[in-house]
Amino acid sequence: MTKRTPIIAGNWKMHNTLAESAALIKGLTENFENKQNAEIIVAPSYTSLAKVAELCKGTAIKVAAQDVHWEDKGAFTSAVSPVQAKDAGATHTIIGHSERRSVFGDTDEILNKKVAAALRHGLTVIFCVGETLAQRETGETLQVIEAQLKNGLKDFTAEQLNGLIIAYEPVWAIGTGKTATPEQAQEVHAAIRQYLATAYGNDFAQATRILYGGSVKDSNVDEIMAKEDVDGALVGGQSLIAEKFRRIINFN
Ligand code: 13P
Repeated sequence: MTKRTPIIAGNWKMHNTLAESAALIKGLTENFENKQNAEIIVAPSYTSLAKVAELCKGTAIKVAAQDVHWEDKGAFTSAVSPVQAKDAGATHTIIGHSERRSVFGDTDEILNKKVAAALRHGLTVIFCVGETLAQRETGETLQVIEAQLKNGLKDFTAEQLNGLIIAYEPVWAIGTGKTATPEQAQEVHAAIRQYLATAYGNDFAQATRILYGGSVKDSNVDEIMAKEDVDGALVGGQSLIAEKFRRIINFN
């Protein structure tokens, strides 16, 4: 079976001034040994993107935008295009985070256009999926996630999606302190991999990293990472605290 390099990614959301961003990068890089050789990604706010990318040069940390617009430029007040994100130093972008879906109204159709825009400019996409509590309670979890994958990634070939990263983030576990159990995560991750195998072939499915997100902490990362189909974590709150994020990167 393919050995997948683990990814530990931090989504800083709407946090950190320039000075706080710089301090956090310093805290993540000074005297740090990346014991698992994990791929490390941080997603700062746009205002800190260029600064963080500059500070991460020559380190193992890669930089992601939290979102990109689907057009390269134009009259889209407040939006940031993939060209701009790349210019600022991003190599990756998150697309379809549940806060984008629920707070900003990103639909599957919009997300599909954003994925296209990111791929057009060579940004690696971290595509997020996840069910709400109501959907879990009515037994719709796997259906919901399959539909998000199907619609969000519509019309792309395996070749185009090469390098894609998926993040499973149950909405009920984000910022709530509630974490999916390792078994719940494994069940959904296995279903996602099965879907990828059916849609894009087994090689693609085996190579794709599937991250878990939702209240990942230094205290629960080990048991989640122990699951076969969990290839990494997308961390919110604890990615803002250097000491916690360092421990998560060095999961056991
Ligand atoms: P928390 O780790 O704060 O629950 O956030 C998860 C998340 O949304 C990462 O994208």
